[in-house]
Amino acid sequence: MIRVLFVCLGNICRSPTAEAVARKRINDDQLDWLEVDSAGTSAFHQGAQPDMRSMQEGLARGYSFERQTSRPVREDDFQDFDYILAMDSHNLRALRKMRDRCTYPRASLWLFMNETIGMTEMDMPDPYYDDGFENVLSLCEAGVQRWIDFLRPDAHA
Ligand code: 4NP
Repeated sequence: MIRVLFVCLGNICRSPTAEAVARKRINDDQLDWLEVDSAGTSAFHQGAQPDMRSMQEGLARGYSFERQTSRPVREDDFQDFDYILAMDSHNLRALRKMRDRCTYPRASLWLFMNETIGMTEMDMPDPYYDDGFENVLSLCEAGVQRWIDFLRPDAHA
C-alpha cells in the first residue's frame, strides 16, 4: 500500500480537490494499492467542508467531496504516509519545519507540481483570494495522473 497526503494551507481548496480527483481514479481504476488523504499546514478551517467554489467545479466534472473536512497536518502524518505532496513552496517550507520537529519522520516531502514527474516545478496557484478554481481542478487532474504513473512501478515492485 502506498499512502499519499495532499497538503495546502487551508485544506479547503487545493488539497481537497487533489484528494477528490485521486479518490475517483482509485475507485474507477481499482487502484487498491493507493490510499490518499489531505490536510492543511494551518488549522484556520478545521472541521469545515471544502470551499463551495471548489466543490462546484469538482461536482461539475463528476468528483465527490463526501466526508471531506479540513484538518491540520499532525505529527503522525510524517510516519503514516509515504509521500506528502505540498501544493506550493510555502506549504513545503512549513512541512519541512514540522518534519524537523518529528522524532521518526518517514514520509518524503515533494512539491505536487514537480519536474521529477514531468511537470515544470511550480506552485499550484491559491484560488482562495483570486478565483481560478477551474484552473486548479485541471492542474490537479494532470498532477494526480502523473503521480499515479510515477508511483505505479513502486506499487507493483
Ligand atoms: P487552500 O486555500 O490552501 O487551497 O485551501 C486557502 C484557503 C483558506 C485560506 C488560504 C488559502 N485562508 O487564509 O483562510
